[in-house]
Amino acid sequence: MAADASTGEHQALDPAQYREVMGHYPTGVTVVTGMSTDGQPIGMVVGTFTAVSLDPPLVAFLPTTTSGTYGLMRDSAAYCINVLAHDQLDLCRLMAVPRPGKFDDVPWAPSPYGAPVLENAVAHIHCRPHDVITAGDHYIVLCEVQAMAVNRPATPLLFFQGGYGGFNTRGMSATGDAELIEAVRLADVARPQVEQVARKLGCEATVLVAANDHELTTAVSAYGCNAQVLEPLGSRVPLMPPLGEAYVGWCDEPVIEAWLARASSQDPEVLDKYRRRLAAVKEGGFAVSRQRDDTEPSYADLKDAMREYAAGELTPARERAVRSVIAESSTFFESFDIEDGETYDLGAIVVPVLEESGRVALCLRASQLPRGLDAPTVREWVATLQDAAAAVSRRLRSEGSDEYAAYLHAMPGDFMM
Ligand SMILES: Cc1cc2nc3c(=O)[nH]c(=O)nc-3n(C[C@H](O)[C@H](O)[C@H](O)COP(=O)(O)O)c2cc1C
Repeated sequence: MAADASTGEHQALDPAQYREVMGHYPTGVTVVTGMSTDGQPIGMVVGTFTAVSLDPPLVAFLPTTTSGTYGLMRDSAAYCINVLAHDQLDLCRLMAVPRPGKFDDVPWAPSPYGAPVLENAVAHIHCRPHDVITAGDHYIVLCEVQAMAVNRPATPLLFFQGGYGGFNTRGMSATGDAELIEAVRLADVARPQVEQVARKLGCEATVLVAANDHELTTAVSAYGCNAQVLEPLGSRVPLMPPLGEAYVGWCDEPVIEAWLARASSQDPEVLDKYRRRLAAVKEGGFAVSRQRDDTEPSYADLKDAMREYAAGELTPARERAVRSVIAESSTFFESFDIEDGETYDLGAIVVPVLEESGRVALCLRASQLPRGLDAPTVREWVATLQDAAAAVSRRLRSEGSDEYAAYLHAMPGDFMM
């Protein structure tokens, strides 16, 4: 029964409307498993799994009172709640039908608590029945948690409006196809110069373009004789300190503030250090990172974290972990003078490509650099990149002007202003 707001009377609720409205609320997908009285593994797909109480630790799931499968495992001494991952849709479909022998082709093992554990599930919650409450046409099966663990920190399978989907951390600010296509077209204007840099320095040379207001994307790459093909195109680089200085350094104050707001520490001293660093990068006209292995995290850890971020599809927990490694890597980006007699292990050199108004259109990056470069070589390589950037800048005003206009047009109105 539902209350009619205008009359205050109760009316019978339309079941279709109940399903339609409830379908707008997404759920995760679990397989609840147990044992039948004759020792067979039993399982059913359950979307109504929920946390109930921390102290004591209780969870619940709601089978229909007519469920034959629940009837078979009602007397099970233990249940295992298997949280399904985004890539377990076939398993979900198999477990959602009322038929015997569902476990024949499914990898599972008995848990020490007495219920079948499904391989590759995101998490396992081992519990035993605590109370069964009849609630209309469903039971609320309250269970006491005995043990629980994350088995595979993958993104979960979700059920929404009668269909399946996955979780995406990029949410509302996800880059649309139109933006990405225009970003790639713009980067292509720089292709001849990027190929030249890669050939001349023997390194990896890449064009970085902003594809939304918080990430750069690698849109064109070329490889010299000493470089390996490592990153696929379209890899994402988060615009958060200490990354993206050669881009943000030339942006207006609101963009700089948004960049600083993404720093993991909001300590005024730390933010001030990043601001000074941006000023130094702008004054020098380039940004460099230095490889160091004697720090925690090491430069190799930073590269791993960036590779993981670039690949996307991170769970929020992994994204937080990856971002924290990036945030702790500011030592690689500290300013230093290039002094004769010294040698340098550089991670990357990045220079901005400026358009007529002084705004940064894109960045050129040289990476996979040999270790132990002497000071004259570092200066020469920075100059090579800056010459290439100046040539791309000229192209943006001539044969690349349409691509640049189309790129700006595809971006949201207040983008990077
Ligand atoms: C995404 C999804 C969520 C489901 N959630 C529930 C649930 O919360 N409770 C329930 O009784 N059945 C649920 N089912 C249906 C059962 O999995 C299915 O009916 C059962 O495994 C086999 O049928 P039986 O219960 O009639 O034996 C769900 C099915 C799917 C596909």
